[in-house]
Amino acid sequence: MSFVSQFLLIFLCLIPSILSQVTEFTSIDCGATTSYTDNTTGLPWISDSITNNQGISVRLENTYGNSQQYQTRRDFPTDNKKYCYTLTTQERRRYIVRATFVYGTSVSGGTYPKFQLYLDATKWSTVTVMESSRVYVNEMIIRAQSSSIDVCLCCATTGSPFISTLEMRPLNLSMYATDYEDDFYLKVAQRVNFGAPSQEPIRYPDDPYDRIWESDLDRRPNFLVGVAPGTERINTTRNINVNTREYPPVKVMQTAVVGTKGSLSYRLNLEDFPANARAYAYFAEIEDLGVNETRKFKMEQPYMPDYSNAVVNIAENANGSYTLYEPSYMNVTLDFVLTFSFVKTRDSTRGPLLSAMEISRYVNIGAKTDQQDVRSLNALRLLSQSEWTDEGDPCIPTNWEWVTCGSSSPPRITKILLSGKNLKGEIPPELKNMEGLTELWLDGNSLNGTIPDISNLVNLKILHLENNQLTGHLPSYVGSFPYLQELYIQNNSLSGEIPASLLRGNLTFRYEGNPRLRRATKTRNKLVVGTSVGVLAILFVLSISSILLLCRFRANKKKSQRNEKGNSLRTSTRPLTGYSIARGGSLMDDGVAYYIQLSDIEEATNSFSKKIGKGSFGPVYYGKMKDGKEVAVKTMADSSSHGTKQFITEVALLSRIHHRNLVPLIGYCEEEHQRMLVYEYMHNGTLRDHIHGSDNQKHLDWLARLRIAEDAAKGLEYLHTGCNPSIIHRDVKTSNILLDINMRAKVSDFGLSRQAEEDLTHISSVARGTVGYLDPEYYANQQLTEKSDVYSFGVVLLELISGRKPVWTEECGSGSGSGSDWSIVHWARSLIRKGDVLSIIDPTMAGTVKIESIWRIAEVAIQCVEQHSSSRPRMQEIILAIQDATKIEKGTDKVDTSGSSKAQSSRKTLLTSFLDIQSPDLSNGSLYPSAR
Ligand SMILES: *[C@@H]1O[C@H](CO)[C@@H](O)[C@H](O)[C@H]1NC(C)=O
Ligand SMILES: *[C@@H]1O[C@H](CO)[C@@H](O)[C@H](O)[C@H]1NC(C)=O
Ligand SMILES: *[C@@H]1O[C@H](CO)[C@@H](O)[C@H](O)[C@H]1NC(C)=O
Ligand SMILES: *[C@@H]1O[C@H](CO)[C@@H](O)[C@H](O)[C@H]1NC(C)=O
Ligand SMILES: *[C@@H]1O[C@H](CO)[C@@H](O)[C@H](O)[C@H]1NC(C)=O
Ligand SMILES: *[C@@H]1O[C@H](CO)[C@@H](O)[C@H](O)[C@H]1NC(C)=O
Repeated sequence: MSFVSQFLLIFLCLIPSILSQVTEFTSIDCGATTSYTDNTTGLPWISDSITNNQGISVRLENTYGNSQQYQTRRDFPTDNKKYCYTLTTQERRRYIVRATFVYGTSVSGGTYPKFQLYLDATKWSTVTVMESSRVYVNEMIIRAQSSSIDVCLCCATTGSPFISTLEMRPLNLSMYATDYEDDFYLKVAQRVNFGAPSQEPIRYPDDPYDRIWESDLDRRPNFLVGVAPGTERINTTRNINVNTREYPPVKVMQTAVVGTKGSLSYRLNLEDFPANARAYAYFAEIEDLGVNETRKFKMEQPYMPDYSNAVVNIAENANGSYTLYEPSYMNVTLDFVLTFSFVKTRDSTRGPLLSAMEISRYVNIGAKTDQQDVRSLNALRLLSQSEWTDEGDPCIPTNWEWVTCGSSSPPRITKILLSGKNLKGEIPPELKNMEGLTELWLDGNSLNGTIPDISNLVNLKILHLENNQLTGHLPSYVGSFPYLQELYIQNNSLSGEIPASLLRGNLTFRYEGNPRLRRATKTRNKLVVGTSVGVLAILFVLSISSILLLCRFRANKKKSQRNEKGNSLRTSTRPLTGYSIARGGSLMDDGVAYYIQLSDIEEATNSFSKKIGKGSFGPVYYGKMKDGKEVAVKTMADSSSHGTKQFITEVALLSRIHHRNLVPLIGYCEEEHQRMLVYEYMHNGTLRDHIHGSDNQKHLDWLARLRIAEDAAKGLEYLHTGCNPSIIHRDVKTSNILLDINMRAKVSDFGLSRQAEEDLTHISSVARGTVGYLDPEYYANQQLTEKSDVYSFGVVLLELISGRKPVWTEECGSGSGSGSDWSIVHWARSLIRKGDVLSIIDPTMAGTVKIESIWRIAEVAIQCVEQHSSSRPRMQEIILAIQDATKIEKGTDKVDTSGSSKAQSSRKTLLTSFLDIQSPDLSNGSLYPSAR
């Protein structure tokens, strides 16, 4: 019953958003004479005949099917101009922009049109028609940079530019977000629906976003060839849960291909490749597997180490059958010919399955003309008395007729030629920002008012303002423009004196026909002398005072230098040699980490005699300093390659960070090839030893575990929110949680955390982290966030509850020798899902804990290991849950009433989170979605 109502809730929420989607569609039928509603899709199409009065509408001879959109096209002249459609967008929203081209006219000799397609200043495609009745589709996924975009055609090399349809479909939220969207658009190269019911592509209304999902039955040349034997098509009519990032249509996910002989393979061409691409694979298990059956497979081609090693188990990855699993590759380099294959693993009973895939090429966003220049040009256009036919960007791909552009990026305007264009009104003041301008021709118009401030236009060579009705003075700074060669201002109504600096030999200066304009007289020179005496006096006063200031400044500087010396003496007995941190003097000024001589460390550790562990770079030794302080010395085994940088990073980072739940750094040492970090010694070792260690006398009770969890969570929360920039640990695990003499937990080994950003695009960094703790979402698409630490911390919580390791191998019943791997996440999830929390409790704690308290932690742990990082809680929320559980366990919460109801409600929210509803408020037994 409640399931049904929740399902309805989802459904009701979706419908309005889909409806609003459609009203936001832009569908332009180019060349159509009227607007209409398409009788197959119900979508309204508008004719471009009102908005686009350029070019001509052409009726096609060979119409393409029954499609109303392909009865006509619009042809544009073959000239140097570009022809554009302007579409209104919402800044920063993502859209699919699609232009289609059907020529539809047979051409004898076969010279079909070939021309360029641009989106703003970005080169989108070269449209090359080869068959008259084929539909050429160009699709770009963009995040709008401003409130409109221009789609422009130009530069035909054969035939004339034309277009059939132009469509724009808004996307929701983060669909098709990439790390690179500030600089790149995504040009769709292939979007294929496998196991399709017919040759027809699937699009709106099956896809509410109107993407075109090509059928794998399409018989284009070089499209999906080399199919592996045993490939079969399967389908289902059951609903598929597609609520992942890209929301592919259910209909596409209801079909798939399976490799019944153990492999699936295909080959297809990718136009405009090799290139870097965003690639998505879509999988949904739509066969009902028997109890003993599994479907596990790997990618074999193209070989990408980190992805090819990952085993896909759709139902497990997606958390159930009939649910979408969508791994994607943020940035892969692919060739023109893409060959890919999936192969089943040995222990799998079924062959691989593929539902759909999508590959988009990254296209560099072209720089638009300087926006100040564009504003100035638009201000000039407003003076015109007739229609302007110029469209799109002033410079790219071709420049407007009356401007010339420089070669810089972004381009700047170098010449404006508006002689005799019947301009009326005042010269716009915006002109002053066009610093790239070398020629300005505004002569022969009806411009009035004064000459605006153009003192910034110092690159001007040629300035023509003659034959207008300008009034006021001729500004004197014009005489100081260093490159000015031609200045024409005749036949205006200018007044005042002509600046003497303009009357020089190498300047062609014409000013006749301005009755009230006169040459400077001798008296002016006296004035100049007068002012210069005044100027000298001022200069004298200024220089005296600046000498005084300088003296004071020197004195201050000396003082501060002395201070600096004092600091550096205090913090380090030896200067840092060679590395860049030596320059960042502030680094060591905290006086926290200090330099320790190698000889002192050798003495403290008794020549490295007691090894107590292994860090990320090398062994860790126990030591005792002269003052009696116990320390752990972390050494770097491989100091040659990455060691230096890591070391610097770690010292820089650690000396900045202080928190009671983070292991403190005492000092460091770098001498010749030795690099070491000296930490405070943690007497009680790692949390790992305490929960998985062999000696059971170290047994931790539940309250102790909760306190450790809270401490560690606070340490992580500090890294995430207390540091600026925030720090992602990347390797949270029980062996990185250390216990001090009072059994308080401190997080260690967060030295490599900051490198996250630099390495993000680098595939090799994917594997960083520890098996069993690794965030699957980070693994799949390399988007590292704080939520990856949350995932790992969820695993730690599950270990605390269960006492099990993150992964373990269990013997198969048959005794065949090969065990099967278990992960704590899947094991605990399936039990907790059934409401069976008892089965996961560590046997050493059984019977001594309050179930409600365990439930509270189990609930938050399962949220932490959610597939999607957005569904995981923040560290802060986890701390609250742990504190809750502690209260329940201590019995400070009134157990009989509120305690049990709380536990009950945590079970309820747990259930709903599996149904993927954003935490509805269940407190009164009614369903109201609430903001998370
Ligand atoms: C759609 O309308 C066109 C003409 O307006 C007509 O020729 C065509 O048969 C119609 N198609 C359907 C499916 O109704
Ligand atoms: C679905 O699969 C069945 C066989 O399992 C087949 O008969 C049917 O034609 C398929 N339907 C579609 C639309 O492919
Ligand atoms: C993708 O990876 C390549 C090679 O590592 C890199 O050069 C490129 O900048 C990355 N991003 C994009 C959008 O191409
Ligand atoms: C599962 O496998 C076992 C042994 O391999 C077999 O005895 C059993 O019948 C199988 N069960 C099913 C439902 O296939
Ligand atoms: C300039 O001309 C426009 C019309 O051509 C007029 O409206 C405006 O008042 C004039 N401005 C001045 C300062 O004469
Ligand atoms: C013109 O001459 C002046 C000085 O006589 C000089 O500073 C300026 O650079 C010259 N300009 C050009 C364009 O040659």
